[in-house]
Amino acid sequence: MDGNIFEKILGQESLFTDRKAFDHGFEPSRLPHRDHEIDSLVKNLVDALQGHIPSNMLLYGVPGAGKTVVTRYVLNQLREKGLELNQNVSTYEINCRSVDTKYRVIQNMASQIYERGDQVIPFTGWPTDRVLETLIRRMDRTGGVHIIVLDEIDNLVSRAGDSLLYNLTNLNTRLKNARCCMIGISNDLNFTQQLDPRVTSRLSQEDIVFHPYGALEIENILIERVETGLKGEVLKTGVVGLCAALAAQEHGDARRALDLLRISVQKAEQSAQNKVDTRHVKMAQSQLEYDQVTPVLKTLPLHQKLVLFSICINEQNGLRNISTGDIYRTYSDACIKIQVEALTTRRVSTLLNELDTLGLIIARNVSKGRGGRSKQVNSAIPKAIDAISLMSDNEPLVNEAALGKYKLQSQL
Ligand SMILES: Nc1ncnc2c1ncn2[C@@H]1O[C@H](COP(=O)(O)OP(=O)(O)OP(=O)(O)O)[C@@H](O)[C@H]1O
Ligand SMILES: [Mg+2]
Repeated sequence: MDGNIFEKILGQESLFTDRKAFDHGFEPSRLPHRDHEIDSLVKNLVDALQGHIPSNMLLYGVPGAGKTVVTRYVLNQLREKGLELNQNVSTYEINCRSVDTKYRVIQNMASQIYERGDQVIPFTGWPTDRVLETLIRRMDRTGGVHIIVLDEIDNLVSRAGDSLLYNLTNLNTRLKNARCCMIGISNDLNFTQQLDPRVTSRLSQEDIVFHPYGALEIENILIERVETGLKGEVLKTGVVGLCAALAAQEHGDARRALDLLRISVQKAEQSAQNKVDTRHVKMAQSQLEYDQVTPVLKTLPLHQKLVLFSICINEQNGLRNISTGDIYRTYSDACIKIQVEALTTRRVSTLLNELDTLGLIIARNVSKGRGGRSKQVNSAIPKAIDAISLMSDNEPLVNEAALGKYKLQSQL
């Protein structure tokens, strides 16, 4: 081969001018359609600049609704103003998906206000109360107002319970020279049901719900990224609109729209084209769907796979709105073929609920007269994805089941 194998791609001109504009951590200079939410945060947090304690807040909203980016933006401005006015404001942003135990959260906070000469708190090993005492001492030493953001807080609660929140919402009674307030962020509206009512009432003094973005709103969000991240006029008409429309269908997720646009541009680059058109967006959409569904399908437990397999082959046979009875018949047939014991209908019904929660099927309850109820099930896996072969990949028994012949109901 002539020359270095990287040369051809390195020499290719990129359609991006700044790929970082599409990174998930990028901080945009404007946040369209979040004025109301920003306003509510500002009205509450301004107390910190006036020597008062802001209320604790809970921010809710679907994934990609801008909760994290809005909070960061507001806190940056708050710190800036604090410095200008000589008001001591400390902020902590902790993502509870990665920092997910009580110990680690307080260790993380205490380490953020470490000063030279302080003892280093190890990642594990101290009694939790000792870490908490150290945190309180250091917060008092720093003084002023401390704003603690616990992002994706539902992860912490489901893993570690609410004792941390109990302690943190109680901190003001223990601090002598400092004050604190908490902002919890969650995309699960029901997460407070897992909390002790006393914790809920302290934590949710003020709630803000971030509504899902509509297609036009997402278009406006994309425009700034296009201006900062892409060369002029590389997008054909309709590209931004299609990315926005697809993401709006996906519960109004701005992150999804940004990913779609970035991958569409990459698809155009990979095929050495200097314009991005709607075909690239469709390719990007299929890739995202594939990337989303594949790991879930591959890692399902055996009986989940067999139940889903039963739905898929009935659908391949033309059946829609499959009844739980039909699913169970095919599933039991498959179990006989591969010589594993079939689960009870009740267990299979639970597995169907789980597949529904994972978004792999859509199950509707229908009434069958005289109080009887049954389910109608359809697969929710995108057509382009071969679910059976993905499930067979690392599970020889599914592969074996798929080789069998089945007596299937056909569409009447
Ligand atoms: N109004 C907006 N203007 C500009 N960019 C936005 C806006 N809203 C969201 N984004 C961008 O969309 C992406 C997702 O936003 P963000 O991470 O804040 O969502 P989230 O609500 O925290 O989602 P999750 O619940 O999944 O954590 C980020 O890249 C963010 O910069
Ligand atoms: Mg977030």
